[in-house]
Amino acid sequence: MLIGSGGREHALAWKLAQSPSCDTLFAAPGNPGIAEEAELVALNTADHTAVIAFCAGHDIGLVVVGPEAPLVDGLGDSLRDAGIPVFGPNQKAAQLEGSKGFTKDMCAAANIPTAGYKRHDSKASALAGLDEFQPPYVIKADGLAAGKGVIIAENRAEAQAAIEDMFGGGFGDAGAAVVLEEFMTGEEASFFALTDGRDVVAFGSAQDHKRVGDGDTGPNTGGMGAYSPAPVLAQALQDEVMERIIRPTVAYMAAQEMPYSGVLFAGLMLTDEGPKLIEYNARFGDPECQVLMSRFQGDLVALMFAVATENLSTAPSPSFSPDTALTVVMAAQGYPGTPQKGGAISIDYVTQAKVFHAGTAEKDGQLVANGGRVLNVTAMGHNVTEAQRNAYAAIEAIDFPTGFYRRDIGWREVEREAAL
Ligand code: AMP
Ligand code: GLY
Repeated sequence: MLIGSGGREHALAWKLAQSPSCDTLFAAPGNPGIAEEAELVALNTADHTAVIAFCAGHDIGLVVVGPEAPLVDGLGDSLRDAGIPVFGPNQKAAQLEGSKGFTKDMCAAANIPTAGYKRHDSKASALAGLDEFQPPYVIKADGLAAGKGVIIAENRAEAQAAIEDMFGGGFGDAGAAVVLEEFMTGEEASFFALTDGRDVVAFGSAQDHKRVGDGDTGPNTGGMGAYSPAPVLAQALQDEVMERIIRPTVAYMAAQEMPYSGVLFAGLMLTDEGPKLIEYNARFGDPECQVLMSRFQGDLVALMFAVATENLSTAPSPSFSPDTALTVVMAAQGYPGTPQKGGAISIDYVTQAKVFHAGTAEKDGQLVANGGRVLNVTAMGHNVTEAQRNAYAAIEAIDFPTGFYRRDIGWREVEREAAL
């Protein structure tokens, strides 16, 4: 059974359903796209007793948790306690995503390269703490803030305003503590690894586009598009990330008796001093997962089951297509603010691309927008340029008048490929 309802989960459902070792796939709550791959279950996934009862009643052999909120809420613990194998970390281990301060303290203790930082539990100390940093100031709400808890302030006044806002409750409970960080420069890339708490394997790279507008302008979003692999993360860099960042993290978590099990998603800054950790996520990226799953070759259920049952060392090494996958997010007008709901969508026959549903619903037989990010149009190619061409060609077959999308997903690599 898969938990979640976004584009990431549609991509996971699509691969899980293709797995030779998958008999029946359920998804809770799912979405209209996921309904094509799985049997949807109307479960309140915050009600752990109900989830466990469903699993017991349907002989569920593996639960895959897509989003971070249920993990930080301890769904992994509840399922493990009930003897149900689960792909995703326990609550304490999910602190790697749930508390930026926890992760920074770990980096300090385990000598993992990251930006210098100071954690503050009061407004007064955070305001005074700005003295130790230079602009641009990096200010982070400690807890989960749906990807919006990071403020890069150009000057002291903006930095003070951000701190006031965080301690004033502007980010809910997430802002009860604040982390101030040194500003890092470089190119960003995402790296994924699977671990069962002891063994670790690399699970691919990607780059996403966080800003809403073409040319990486405008407000931050959850991600407007992505591609995999990320050529900037050459093999030597990936090896360095495994040795200096991922393995020490897994070892630290095990030593602290909160072994991390599931996927570790490292957001990296490729600085002049080498790769540094920006943040961890306890789940796959969205939309990075859509491009990873498009390239993954193998039995995903078997691999995730091996992770869930601490048998990763016996599983075959993950294998990926050498081709590039690229996804373009179609969002509803208004996103990342309040998105327009209910806009009609029609999808003609799309060739050479897979359209993952992120925020869709079905209303009186009509597919409509039901969220900020609505569709993820995902295509393959021999390089980024070709994958980009295929993805945008597929968008032509989609009629979504109240939607919009970026026209330049993959631009950095397209420029580099043109210069080759
Ligand atoms: P996060 O949610 O921690 O990934 O941060 C969101 C975005 O803020 C990152 O993708 C970076 O673009 C930026 N960011 C976060 N921390 C830093 C930092 N220390 N230096 C520069 N940029 C940062
Ligand atoms: N696309 C970035 C994330 O999933 O956090």
